Amino acid sequence: MTYQGKEESLIELFDDMLKSNMSNYYMTFHPKAAERFGGKYGIRPLFTNEPKPLALPYMWKYREAKSKLYQLSELISAEESERRTVIFVNPGLKNINFFGLSSIAPTLYGGLQLIKAGERAPAHRHTPVNVRFVLEAPEKGAYIIYDGFKVDIGPGDVLVQSNWMLHDHHNNGDTDLIWLAGLDSPFVSYLSAMFYEGFVTGGVDEEQPIKSAGDVLTETYGSSLRPSRPLVSHDPWYNPVIKYPWRNILRTLTHLHSMGNLDQHEGVSVELTNPLSGGPALPTIRITTTLIPPKTDLYPLRRTENMVLVNFDGEIVVEVMESIDGKKTFHLADHDVVVLPTWTKYRLSNRDDRPAILFTYSDAPIYKSFGLYREIKFEGTR
Ligand SMILES: [Fe+2]
Repeated sequence: MTYQGKEESLIELFDDMLKSNMSNYYMTFHPKAAERFGGKYGIRPLFTNEPKPLALPYMWKYREAKSKLYQLSELISAEESERRTVIFVNPGLKNINFFGLSSIAPTLYGGLQLIKAGERAPAHRHTPVNVRFVLEAPEKGAYIIYDGFKVDIGPGDVLVQSNWMLHDHHNNGDTDLIWLAGLDSPFVSYLSAMFYEGFVTGGVDEEQPIKSAGDVLTETYGSSLRPSRPLVSHDPWYNPVIKYPWRNILRTLTHLHSMGNLDQHEGVSVELTNPLSGGPALPTIRITTTLIPPKTDLYPLRRTENMVLVNFDGEIVVEVMESIDGKKTFHLADHDVVVLPTWTKYRLSNRDDRPAILFTYSDAPIYKSFGLYREIKFEGTR
């Protein structure tokens, strides 16, 4: 027996069932019927032949976002706001209750943060993890404190903050500090696994004490040296490196490039890993940095991962060849940001005559953890 010929009776019954908070396979799962029966409630079929992301591929221009950041800074001080941020909102997720306005992808947050010269952001900790790409920073005087370790930061540095790491940020330099922050907060919120704690005593927002100055964690764990007496947690979800210095990343990419170490799909690319686990830098977030050689069209690929791309230096073209929103071409100038939802077919190009550098972060580790990771690598440039 099918729904053919019984449609009116079914619609009446489904309306009635919904009033009692019940639904049915034809309204939700069924590849063809769900649209007919669930469409008026905004339901799309869940069981599709391949992923149909709600999120859309989209680009934000850094110049515009930075201007908004400075407009906000006229109205919101670093102390009174829980961060002065421009959050990138995926237009496909904008209307989703609770998470939409802080989601660049269903699982990921992406946003810019400004800490002006002489400012400090309050210390706190939370269960979502964070990766920061430093886009602009003073010559010296900008630093973060993560779990008592003070780490100086400059442009291009990548900072990873594990679950429940106490963190605050200082800019004692003479120019402003801007980074792009990526978090797994929509994912953590959806799981209702959010915990948050300010570092406050008697209503006063305190500065966390510094246990150690300098880059001891990066120098130790980042050189694959594992102390017998741990400096920090050695739990598998904790990344002790904290900072991946830009000079190391750039030196490595440049060296690999000079050796001709080019992957046709990925470019000259390195993934940042957690040396204790050998796995991704953060349990839910894969971080990569890529050099695309001059005048190079990489080959197309598609993957089950939601990926955010940040153009750090140079000019990059992101060609969306197949997506839920059709074809698009994004031309990225310095620090422009693009999101590519899962299963988008895309390719990257550098049509300029100098190398381009790209940061990316994605939720690939979530897909990989549950056997959901798939990829197709296309041969040739189309
Ligand atoms: Fe935070």
